[in-house]
Amino acid sequence: MSEFSKVAGLTGMKDTLPPETAHWQRFEAIVRGWLAAYGYQNVRIPVLEHTRLFARGIGEVTDIVEKEMYSFVDRLNDERLTMRPEFTAGIVRSAIEHNFLYDRPRRIYAMGPVFRHERPQRGRYRQFHQVDVEALGFPGPDVDAELIIMLARLWRLLGLQDIRLELNSLGQPPERAAHREALVRHLEAHLDILDDEARRRMHSNPLRVLDTKNPAMQAMADSAPRLFDFLGAESLAHYEGLCVRLQDAGIRWTLNPRLVRGLDYYNLTVFEWVTDRLGAQGTVCGGGRYDGLFELLGGKPAPAVGFAIGIERLLDLWLQSQAAEPTPECQVYMVHQGDAGQRQAAQLAEQLRDAGLAVVVHAGSGGFKSQFRRADASGACVAVVIADDELERGQATVKWLRAADAPDQQETIAFGRLAEQLQQRI
Ligand code: HAM
Repeated sequence: MSEFSKVAGLTGMKDTLPPETAHWQRFEAIVRGWLAAYGYQNVRIPVLEHTRLFARGIGEVTDIVEKEMYSFVDRLNDERLTMRPEFTAGIVRSAIEHNFLYDRPRRIYAMGPVFRHERPQRGRYRQFHQVDVEALGFPGPDVDAELIIMLARLWRLLGLQDIRLELNSLGQPPERAAHREALVRHLEAHLDILDDEARRRMHSNPLRVLDTKNPAMQAMADSAPRLFDFLGAESLAHYEGLCVRLQDAGIRWTLNPRLVRGLDYYNLTVFEWVTDRLGAQGTVCGGGRYDGLFELLGGKPAPAVGFAIGIERLLDLWLQSQAAEPTPECQVYMVHQGDAGQRQAAQLAEQLRDAGLAVVVHAGSGGFKSQFRRADASGACVAVVIADDELERGQATVKWLRAADAPDQQETIAFGRLAEQLQQRI
């Protein structure tokens, strides 16, 4: 017994271990290929940014900024810093800082961890991962459609079904201002049934009041003026332009006039892909247009649109839809006896790796029985034995661990031909 107590990981922050990591890697490889097929290039930005970037970019009265950010003061220089709760604000900051966009529009993506201090449950973590895709400098609606069409392709590539698309348009700031006035009047007329949170948000962020889960406020929310009805001709034309392109691609959607998203930078197109198969946290992807964000963050105005996929949720869905095959640690497991056997096995293993095979040499002590148990557990299809007899004859004993790989199960192969033989047959 150790005299030290264990240190546990943090609530809401998951460890991902084999074999699950193999699914992550497979998913990431598919995603990189899919993004390359549409000309999207990878960017990598820091996890830490100035707190004011997110406060200004995402909006002071959003849930994320009000209560979910991991923020702290850097003791060394008193700067207020935040661990990114999303990618978009950081990507826009980076594009402005490096003049990355103004010569020509850009299609880019980033992947990695983001942090939100939410109440953990299935599909909701405090550290989670996103694939974030942004089309910078495009006014749309052609690129809005491109993003949604490419997502439909990803779902096909992964064999996912039961994901539906919800779409809305948030219009432009003057349209939102007119709607907001009407909405505040509506809320004021129902003051008696508003809960504390709604009263607090009624003037700061009235749209979010309509997102309420409070059953007593549902009827009030349902009868509230709809932003969609306040859209002018240009905003409607943008929305129609998106819709015809989705129709061309055979993509179905529902218009959800209540879809407002949890971040304040959006205008015109907003969308979410939702499934019923994940319980309460069924949104696997969300995004939209944010034409005002470049200017808001001190850059030259530039239109932009993007989305982020929640990787944990998508993998949960993906693994439900297919039999998850265990991924072997290696193809060949080297079993040996004595010091000379171990050294010969290590040398042969290097030759096998030169031939492109994945090889594990048994490390440490152990008799044949326990070494073969390890070989089985590794998932290897073949064990190569180097013991005294083998050393004497210069031939390895090759044992096929799964009958389907080779029906006659065991044979001997000269050291010099081992790499070539196994490479051909594995
Ligand atoms: P978001 O809707 O806040 O959008 O997050 C995108 C996705 O991340 C969600 O649809 C969900 O799948 C996943 N997600 C969010 N919170 C959690 C959590 N606590 N645990 C697990 N997964 C979660 C954005 O972040 C925007 N930046 C998307 C965007 C990019 N809009 C324009 N460009």
